[in-house]
Amino acid sequence: MLNPRDRLIVALDVSSVAEAEALVAKLGEAVTFYKIGYQLGFAGGLALAERLAQSGKQVFVDMKLHDIGNTVAQGVKSVARLGASFLTVHGYPQTMHAAVDARRGTSLRILAVTVLTSYNDADLAAAGYDFTVGELVAERAAQARDIGVDGLVCSAAEAEIVRPLLGPGMVLVTPGIRPMQTDADDQKRIMTPGEAVRAGADYLVVGRPVIAADDPKAAAEAIVAEIAAAA
Ligand code: C5P
Repeated sequence: MLNPRDRLIVALDVSSVAEAEALVAKLGEAVTFYKIGYQLGFAGGLALAERLAQSGKQVFVDMKLHDIGNTVAQGVKSVARLGASFLTVHGYPQTMHAAVDARRGTSLRILAVTVLTSYNDADLAAAGYDFTVGELVAERAAQARDIGVDGLVCSAAEAEIVRPLLGPGMVLVTPGIRPMQTDADDQKRIMTPGEAVRAGADYLVVGRPVIAADDPKAAAEAIVAEIAAAA
């Protein structure tokens, strides 16, 4: 069983390491797991990822890798050396195989993104796919399971559908979380932390409701309390 506190992943969606460090200091012991994506990663955030891991925090490197197998494998090895706990790759079979092979013997877990949540059926058709979003999510989830991927990222709204497709030991990580009485921002399909946990999410990724709150630490603690109550 996971500790409720370790199930909250705060997205450090800021543009500088200084801003990120100020947030991490403010959040203190309330947050144990951070996500670093393109915005911060390409602004010095990967060195911060290594420092956070060394200080005992868990780090999710959200770089959604996709390239030829050898390039993916070498990238995965470098991310593992940073001490990161989670890394995302796109859910293409070659990419997933390369990433899973390369993370062996490390504590890094590979998460596959099945279909980006900004895609609808028309976007898939425009990209040359002959699948609906639902079909492609199910196909890629089954491939991820068979390849030995450690988990999937999906919207909280999809968690209930994706959960039964997971293999044993696989984790489900869901963004699109909005605590009661917060702004939806640009997220269209949102769930509260309690709803996401009840829908089968293992880890919840939360950005703006924590990092843009007047009191980020109180906001994080309220989410952890909601996770604990629903668990
Ligand atoms: O601020 P907010 O809570 O909406 O941030 C959610 C985080 O999760 C962002 O870092 C965003 O990139 C990420 N994410 C998402 N939807 C996905 C995949 C990732 O919102 N489908």
